[in-house]
Amino acid sequence: MTAPADLSVAGDPQAAEAGRARFDELIAADSRVEPRDWMPEAYRKTLIRQISQHAHSEIIGMQPESNWITRAPSLKRKAILMAKVQDEAGHGLYLYSAAQTLGISRDEMMAQLIEGRARYSSIFNYPTPTWADMGAIGWLVDGAAICNQVPLCRASYGPYGRAMVRICKEESFHQRQGFEILLELMQGTEAQRQMAQDAVDRWYWPSLMMFGPPDEQSPNSAQSMAWNIKRFSNDDLRQRFVGMLVPQAEVLGVTLPDPNLAWNEAEQRYDMSEIDWTEFEEVLAGRGPANAERLRRRREAHDEGAWVREAAAEYARKQAEQSAAA
Ligand SMILES: [Fe+2]
Ligand SMILES: [Fe+2]
Repeated sequence: MTAPADLSVAGDPQAAEAGRARFDELIAADSRVEPRDWMPEAYRKTLIRQISQHAHSEIIGMQPESNWITRAPSLKRKAILMAKVQDEAGHGLYLYSAAQTLGISRDEMMAQLIEGRARYSSIFNYPTPTWADMGAIGWLVDGAAICNQVPLCRASYGPYGRAMVRICKEESFHQRQGFEILLELMQGTEAQRQMAQDAVDRWYWPSLMMFGPPDEQSPNSAQSMAWNIKRFSNDDLRQRFVGMLVPQAEVLGVTLPDPNLAWNEAEQRYDMSEIDWTEFEEVLAGRGPANAERLRRRREAHDEGAWVREAAAEYARKQAEQSAAA
């Protein structure tokens, strides 16, 4: 594991001063900070929190969809959904690796998750009762993820930005497969159209909440923007997302469940109804419809995987022994 860069210059005020000047230069030039560079402790902590929460979201996010793999309506749909859920596992792994370069171990992050000490995106605490939920998740949840994550490809921390490039390419496939599921349902029977609309009704508001609280209630955003981690405010990203959805909803023939949604020409933005932030807070606090179930399943999977971790560690030990003997 990389030693925290601060420690390498601890007790050497001149080196720390030079490190800080270099960090400030990198940020001012909109350049990349790499794991070996000196960085302020708060920058490191912010990134560890953000990247590990992001990794946890990818891993927990596999659950609502894996629920449908065996019940997807055709072999083709099963194969697509399985590939998508595997992509999400991969996203979690790239992100855990990126966080590890900041000096936290995978074990510690996993412990934080399964002991309920870490957060992950509130969206994954909603249930997926119908097949149309697979369409709505791809279209809305992966769609929101793309709006959030494309600007992160330019995040100042190198390993995070680079991980996001590949993740975003895969997310755009996810969004299209969701759109296509909904399109097919909307061209089907009346019952299928209703199922698609019902799924959109249930996922629309939670997907808008994915961008986080309104700007005036998002105290950490300004610092993250000054550090070139975050590029756009929560409300700006939410606006972009709605701007992307409106024409796509027209093509699908679904109604976005907000009677107040309208383009405001004077302000060049969408007017929309107030988001129910109480619901967001409740879900974040662990009282959403599926929080307990998600964590219970994550713990179970962790326990069931113990033999794999032991076997891998034992294999690594034997390899090291062999190369030491050679
Ligand atoms: Fe993902
Ligand atoms: Fe995705």
